Amino acid sequence: MRFDIFTLFPGIFESPLNESMLKRAIEAGLLDVQLHNIRDYAAGRHQVTDDYPYGGGGGMVMKPEPVFAAVEAVLSSEPTIPIVLLTPQGRLFNQQVAFELAQFDRVALICGRYEGFDERIREHLATDEISIGDYVLTGGELAALILVDAVIRLKPGALGDPTGAIDDSHASGLLEYPHYTRPPDFRDWRVPDVLLSGDHGKVDRWRREQALRRTWERRPDLLARAELTEPDRLFLGQLAQKTKPE
Ligand code: 6GU
Repeated sequence: MRFDIFTLFPGIFESPLNESMLKRAIEAGLLDVQLHNIRDYAAGRHQVTDDYPYGGGGGMVMKPEPVFAAVEAVLSSEPTIPIVLLTPQGRLFNQQVAFELAQFDRVALICGRYEGFDERIREHLATDEISIGDYVLTGGELAALILVDAVIRLKPGALGDPTGAIDDSHASGLLEYPHYTRPPDFRDWRVPDVLLSGDHGKVDRWRREQALRRTWERRPDLLARAELTEPDRLFLGQLAQKTKPE
């Protein structure tokens, strides 16, 4: 999968793409990230990419010409790929949106800086707008990296364990069950007996109930959209009973 990333700060991407899983995905030929410096497409000796807002007020606005020029130069042969603007005003990124984007072979990401984009970039260049959460970053670059990371690990072959992405927190709509490894006793804190029992049926049931309990305690909003079986609903019903005031 190829990402074309349009940014004023390509250096931000260097070390995240040169470590761990993203590095391996690039080496394996699964991920190709092409960085394009918007400033290279700005006109004039000073290559200005921002300007004062019409109507006054604080902050600067990203000029349309360099962004259009950069995207059109790079994507001229590829007119149908998603062109995603990273902005706090976009739709919220989540696992569902990550799956959506993972269906494409190529995606363009435009990272904003300053107070915002000239509205004509949104209206006439971008095909999608994405935010990674309800807080304000200084620019779209870190959001783009988060998006690339979440999307590329959904591609078959990008993970060491092929079931990894299916078992994930959020893939099933539930938070993950607790994990343990050796030693079985650390500072008198014991690994739950069921995990040492060798009874896979019991282990599976315990994990499912832990995932349900965790989600119910920490993120009850997720339960509404989770895929639940009849035994799941029964277990959640019992949880609710137990915590009811006398
Ligand atoms: Cl995509 N960009 C910026 N600047 N801030 C954000 C964001 C994006 N998502 C959440 N906050």
